Amino acid sequence: MSNSLKRGAIGVFDSGYGGLTILKEIVELLPQYDYIYLGDNARAPYGTRSFETVYSYTAQAVEHLFELGCPMVILACNTASAKALRTIQQNDLLEYDPSRRVLGVIRPTVEQLPNISKNGHVGVFATRGTVASSSYPLEIAKLHGDQSFCVSQVACPMWVPLVENNEFSGKGAEYFVKKYVDQLFLLDPKIDTIILGCTHYPLLAPLIAKELPEGVSLISQGETVALSLANYLERHTEMRDRITTGGTLRYLTTEQKDHFAKLAEIFMDSKVCAEHVEFHE
Ligand code: DGL
Repeated sequence: MSNSLKRGAIGVFDSGYGGLTILKEIVELLPQYDYIYLGDNARAPYGTRSFETVYSYTAQAVEHLFELGCPMVILACNTASAKALRTIQQNDLLEYDPSRRVLGVIRPTVEQLPNISKNGHVGVFATRGTVASSSYPLEIAKLHGDQSFCVSQVACPMWVPLVENNEFSGKGAEYFVKKYVDQLFLLDPKIDTIILGCTHYPLLAPLIAKELPEGVSLISQGETVALSLANYLERHTEMRDRITTGGTLRYLTTEQKDHFAKLAEIFMDSKVCAEHVEFHE
Protein backbone atom coordinates (compact mmCIF):
# COMPACT_ATOMS: atom_id res chain seq x y z
CA MET A 1 0.00 0.00 0.00
CA SER A 2 1.31 3.41 -0.89
CA ASN A 3 0.03 5.07 2.28
CA SER A 4 2.56 3.26 4.48
CA LEU A 5 4.19 6.45 5.73
CA LYS A 6 0.98 8.23 6.47
CA ARG A 7 0.88 10.06 9.80
CA GLY A 8 -2.16 9.84 12.02
CA ALA A 9 -3.71 9.23 15.42
CA ILE A 10 -3.25 6.22 17.67
CA GLY A 11 -6.27 3.95 17.27
CA VAL A 12 -7.70 2.33 20.39
CA PHE A 13 -10.27 -0.42 19.95
CA ASP A 14 -12.61 -2.33 22.24
CA SER A 15 -15.87 -4.23 21.91
CA GLY A 16 -17.53 -1.46 23.91
CA TYR A 17 -16.75 0.89 26.75
CA GLY A 18 -14.07 -1.16 28.50
CA GLY A 19 -11.17 0.08 26.39
CA LEU A 20 -11.85 3.55 27.73
CA THR A 21 -10.19 2.42 30.99
CA ILE A 22 -7.04 1.89 28.93
CA LEU A 23 -7.46 5.02 26.80
CA LYS A 24 -7.84 7.19 29.91
CA GLU A 25 -4.49 6.07 31.33
CA ILE A 26 -2.76 6.35 27.95
CA VAL A 27 -4.01 9.90 27.44
CA GLU A 28 -2.98 10.85 30.97
CA LEU A 29 0.56 9.60 30.34
CA LEU A 30 0.88 10.67 26.69
CA PRO A 31 -1.46 13.67 26.25
CA GLN A 32 0.45 15.09 23.29
CA TYR A 33 -0.80 12.53 20.76
CA ASP A 34 -4.06 12.34 18.80
CA TYR A 35 -6.33 9.37 19.52
CA ILE A 36 -9.30 7.73 17.83
CA TYR A 37 -11.32 5.40 20.05
CA LEU A 38 -13.61 2.86 18.43
CA GLY A 39 -16.15 0.92 20.49
CA ASP A 40 -18.10 -1.82 18.76
CA ASN A 41 -20.94 -1.40 21.27
CA ALA A 42 -23.59 -2.68 18.87
CA ARG A 43 -21.91 -6.09 18.80
CA ALA A 44 -20.66 -6.26 22.42
CA PRO A 45 -20.10 -8.40 24.35
CA TYR A 46 -17.38 -10.23 22.47
CA GLY A 47 -16.57 -12.50 25.43
CA THR A 48 -19.20 -15.08 24.59
CA ARG A 49 -18.57 -15.10 20.82
CA SER A 50 -16.62 -17.64 18.79
CA PHE A 51 -12.98 -17.26 17.80
CA GLU A 52 -14.00 -16.63 14.16
CA THR A 53 -16.52 -13.94 15.04
CA VAL A 54 -14.19 -12.06 17.40
CA TYR A 55 -11.43 -12.22 14.79
CA SER A 56 -13.66 -10.98 11.98
CA TYR A 57 -15.17 -8.09 14.03
CA THR A 58 -11.75 -7.06 15.31
CA ALA A 59 -10.14 -7.18 11.85
CA GLN A 60 -12.96 -5.01 10.51
CA ALA A 61 -12.44 -2.44 13.26
CA VAL A 62 -8.67 -2.38 12.82
CA GLU A 63 -9.04 -1.88 9.09
CA HIS A 64 -11.44 1.00 9.70
CA LEU A 65 -8.94 2.68 12.02
CA PHE A 66 -6.21 2.14 9.41
CA GLU A 67 -8.43 3.77 6.81
CA LEU A 68 -8.74 6.75 9.14
CA GLY A 69 -4.96 6.99 9.00
CA CYS A 70 -3.90 5.38 12.29
CA PRO A 71 -0.32 4.07 11.98
CA MET A 72 -0.87 1.96 15.07
CA VAL A 73 -3.85 0.42 16.83
CA ILE A 74 -4.06 -0.81 20.42
CA LEU A 75 -6.50 -3.66 20.97
CA ALA A 76 -7.70 -2.40 24.35
CA CYS A 77 -9.70 -5.58 24.73
CA ASN A 78 -8.41 -8.82 26.23
CA THR A 79 -10.86 -10.94 24.27
CA ALA A 80 -9.73 -9.43 20.95
CA SER A 81 -6.08 -9.64 22.06
CA ALA A 82 -6.61 -13.31 22.93
CA LYS A 83 -8.50 -14.32 19.81
CA ALA A 84 -7.53 -11.96 17.01
CA LEU A 85 -4.19 -10.26 17.67
CA ARG A 86 -1.89 -13.01 16.47
CA THR A 87 -3.71 -13.55 13.16
CA ILE A 88 -3.87 -9.82 12.51
CA GLN A 89 -0.17 -9.40 13.28
CA GLN A 90 0.98 -12.46 11.35
CA ASN A 91 -1.34 -12.37 8.32
CA ASP A 92 -3.43 -9.25 7.87
CA LEU A 93 -0.75 -6.66 8.54
CA LEU A 94 1.53 -8.17 5.92
CA GLU A 95 -1.22 -7.82 3.37
CA TYR A 96 -2.53 -4.43 4.45
CA ASP A 97 0.61 -2.51 5.34
CA PRO A 98 3.54 -4.12 7.17
CA SER A 99 4.73 -0.75 8.48
CA ARG A 100 1.70 -0.37 10.73
CA ARG A 101 1.42 -1.95 14.16
CA VAL A 102 -1.33 -3.60 16.18
CA LEU A 103 -0.58 -4.19 19.86
CA GLY A 104 -2.57 -6.01 22.54
CA VAL A 105 -2.98 -5.80 26.30
CA ILE A 106 -2.16 -9.31 27.51
CA ARG A 107 1.61 -9.31 27.16
CA PRO A 108 2.27 -5.99 28.95
CA THR A 109 0.06 -7.18 31.81
CA VAL A 110 1.86 -10.50 32.13
CA GLU A 111 5.25 -8.74 32.08
CA GLN A 112 4.31 -7.02 35.36
CA LEU A 113 3.70 -10.20 37.35
CA PRO A 114 7.16 -10.75 38.85
CA ASN A 115 7.10 -7.16 40.17
CA ILE A 116 3.83 -7.74 41.98
CA SER A 117 3.27 -11.33 43.06
CA LYS A 118 5.33 -12.45 46.04
CA ASN A 119 4.20 -16.07 46.29
CA GLY A 120 3.55 -16.85 42.58
CA HIS A 121 -0.18 -17.58 43.06
CA VAL A 122 -2.08 -15.60 40.46
CA GLY A 123 -5.78 -15.27 39.75
CA VAL A 124 -7.31 -14.15 36.46
CA PHE A 125 -10.82 -12.77 36.03
CA ALA A 126 -11.75 -12.55 32.36
CA THR A 127 -14.47 -13.19 29.80
CA ARG A 128 -15.41 -16.74 28.83
CA GLY A 129 -13.56 -16.29 25.54
CA THR A 130 -10.31 -15.14 27.16
CA VAL A 131 -10.45 -17.90 29.77
CA ALA A 132 -11.18 -20.57 27.15
CA SER A 133 -8.31 -19.35 24.98
CA SER A 134 -5.90 -19.91 27.93
CA SER A 135 -4.06 -16.83 26.70
CA TYR A 136 -3.04 -15.73 30.20
CA PRO A 137 -1.64 -19.08 31.43
CA LEU A 138 0.08 -19.61 28.06
CA GLU A 139 1.61 -16.13 27.92
CA ILE A 140 2.73 -16.41 31.57
CA ALA A 141 4.42 -19.74 30.85
CA LYS A 142 6.01 -18.34 27.68
CA LEU A 143 7.41 -15.24 29.36
CA HIS A 144 8.26 -16.54 32.81
CA GLY A 145 8.58 -20.33 32.38
CA ASP A 146 6.18 -23.20 33.09
CA GLN A 147 6.86 -23.51 36.80
CA SER A 148 6.98 -19.82 37.67
CA PHE A 149 3.35 -19.09 38.54
CA CYS A 150 0.34 -21.08 39.62
CA VAL A 151 -2.51 -19.53 37.60
CA SER A 152 -6.23 -19.95 38.33
CA GLN A 153 -8.89 -18.43 36.09
CA VAL A 154 -12.57 -17.63 36.53
CA ALA A 155 -14.85 -16.47 33.71
CA CYS A 156 -17.20 -13.66 34.76
CA PRO A 157 -19.90 -13.49 32.06
CA MET A 158 -22.10 -11.15 34.12
CA TRP A 159 -19.54 -8.40 34.66
CA VAL A 160 -19.42 -6.93 31.14
CA PRO A 161 -23.23 -6.59 30.87
CA LEU A 162 -23.25 -4.85 34.28
CA VAL A 163 -20.69 -2.32 33.09
CA GLU A 164 -22.20 -1.86 29.61
CA ASN A 165 -25.54 -1.11 31.30
CA ASN A 166 -24.17 1.35 33.83
CA GLU A 167 -24.87 -1.04 36.72
CA PHE A 168 -21.41 -1.19 38.22
CA SER A 169 -22.44 -0.33 41.75
CA GLY A 170 -25.39 -1.44 43.86
CA LYS A 171 -26.75 -4.76 45.08
CA GLY A 172 -26.84 -6.58 41.72
CA ALA A 173 -23.20 -5.79 40.99
CA GLU A 174 -22.20 -6.69 44.57
CA TYR A 175 -23.86 -10.09 44.24
CA PHE A 176 -22.06 -11.00 41.01
CA VAL A 177 -18.74 -9.65 42.21
CA LYS A 178 -18.85 -11.78 45.36
CA LYS A 179 -19.94 -14.81 43.37
CA TYR A 180 -16.88 -14.81 41.08
CA VAL A 181 -14.41 -13.75 43.79
CA ASP A 182 -15.57 -16.69 45.94
CA GLN A 183 -15.16 -19.05 42.95
CA LEU A 184 -11.59 -17.89 42.38
CA PHE A 185 -10.48 -18.28 45.99
CA LEU A 186 -12.05 -21.74 46.12
CA LEU A 187 -9.73 -22.70 43.27
CA ASP A 188 -6.68 -21.31 45.08
CA PRO A 189 -6.87 -19.67 48.51
CA LYS A 190 -3.20 -18.65 48.29
CA ILE A 191 -3.67 -16.15 45.43
CA ASP A 192 -1.83 -12.89 46.21
CA THR A 193 -2.22 -11.16 42.81
CA ILE A 194 -5.22 -10.75 40.55
CA ILE A 195 -5.26 -9.78 36.91
CA LEU A 196 -8.45 -8.05 35.84
CA GLY A 197 -8.19 -9.59 32.39
CA CYS A 198 -10.99 -7.61 30.82
CA THR A 199 -10.87 -3.89 30.25
CA HIS A 200 -14.44 -3.44 31.47
CA TYR A 201 -13.61 -4.74 34.95
CA PRO A 202 -11.77 -1.72 36.41
CA LEU A 203 -15.19 -0.09 36.77
CA LEU A 204 -16.01 -2.88 39.23
CA ALA A 205 -12.61 -2.66 40.96
CA PRO A 206 -13.89 -0.86 44.10
CA LEU A 207 -16.44 -3.66 44.67
CA ILE A 208 -13.93 -6.39 43.83
CA ALA A 209 -11.35 -4.90 46.22
CA LYS A 210 -13.92 -5.00 49.04
CA GLU A 211 -14.40 -8.75 48.61
CA LEU A 212 -10.72 -9.67 48.47
CA PRO A 213 -8.76 -11.05 51.40
CA GLU A 214 -6.28 -8.57 52.84
CA GLY A 215 -2.96 -8.20 51.04
CA VAL A 216 -4.19 -9.31 47.60
CA SER A 217 -3.06 -6.96 44.78
CA LEU A 218 -5.09 -6.07 41.70
CA ILE A 219 -3.04 -5.37 38.58
CA SER A 220 -4.09 -2.12 36.99
CA GLN A 221 -4.09 -2.94 33.30
CA GLY A 222 -4.65 0.64 32.08
CA GLU A 223 -1.56 1.99 33.76
CA THR A 224 0.49 -1.02 32.70
CA VAL A 225 -0.51 -0.73 29.04
CA ALA A 226 0.10 3.03 29.05
CA LEU A 227 3.63 2.59 30.42
CA SER A 228 4.33 -0.16 27.96
CA LEU A 229 3.16 2.00 25.04
CA ALA A 230 5.35 4.90 26.19
CA ASN A 231 8.28 2.53 26.34
CA TYR A 232 7.47 1.12 22.89
CA LEU A 233 7.37 4.59 21.34
CA GLU A 234 10.69 5.47 22.95
CA ARG A 235 12.27 2.40 21.39
CA HIS A 236 10.51 2.79 18.02
CA THR A 237 11.05 6.40 17.05
CA GLU A 238 10.06 5.63 13.43
CA MET A 239 6.55 4.87 14.74
CA ARG A 240 6.55 7.73 17.24
CA ASP A 241 7.31 10.18 14.42
CA ARG A 242 4.26 8.97 12.51
CA ILE A 243 1.82 9.84 15.27
CA THR A 244 0.25 13.27 15.03
CA THR A 245 0.52 15.47 18.08
CA GLY A 246 -2.60 17.63 18.26
CA GLY A 247 -3.72 16.27 21.65
CA THR A 248 -7.19 15.43 20.26
CA LEU A 249 -9.58 12.64 21.17
CA ARG A 250 -12.15 11.36 18.70
CA TYR A 251 -14.76 8.75 19.67
CA LEU A 252 -16.53 6.35 17.31
CA THR A 253 -19.20 3.84 18.24
CA THR A 254 -21.25 1.34 16.28
CA GLU A 255 -24.16 2.08 18.67
CA GLN A 256 -26.18 5.22 19.20
CA LYS A 257 -23.70 8.07 19.57
CA ASP A 258 -25.47 10.08 22.29
CA HIS A 259 -25.97 7.05 24.46
CA PHE A 260 -22.32 6.13 24.03
CA ALA A 261 -21.18 9.65 24.87
CA LYS A 262 -23.21 9.72 28.10
CA LEU A 263 -21.69 6.55 29.51
CA ALA A 264 -18.22 7.25 28.10
CA GLU A 265 -18.16 10.49 30.10
CA ILE A 266 -18.33 8.42 33.30
CA PHE A 267 -15.32 6.38 32.19
CA MET A 268 -13.30 9.34 30.94
CA ASP A 269 -14.36 11.84 33.58
CA SER A 270 -14.59 14.49 30.86
CA LYS A 271 -16.89 15.66 28.07
CA VAL A 272 -17.29 13.17 25.22
CA CYS A 273 -18.68 13.81 21.73
CA ALA A 274 -19.19 10.65 19.73
CA GLU A 275 -19.74 9.76 16.07
CA HIS A 276 -21.66 6.78 14.77
CA VAL A 277 -19.97 4.28 12.49
CA GLU A 278 -21.76 1.41 10.78
CA PHE A 279 -20.22 -2.00 10.13
CA HIS A 280 -21.83 -4.64 7.97
CA GLU A 281 -21.23 -8.32 8.69
N1 DGL B 1 -13.46 -5.44 27.23
C1 DGL B 1 -13.25 -6.69 26.64
C2 DGL B 1 -12.08 -7.42 27.23
O1 DGL B 1 -11.15 -6.80 27.69
C3 DGL B 1 -14.36 -7.63 26.35
C4 DGL B 1 -15.70 -7.42 26.82
C5 DGL B 1 -16.69 -8.17 25.99
O2 DGL B 1 -17.06 -7.61 24.97
O3 DGL B 1 -17.06 -9.30 26.36
O4 DGL B 1 -12.06 -8.63 27.23
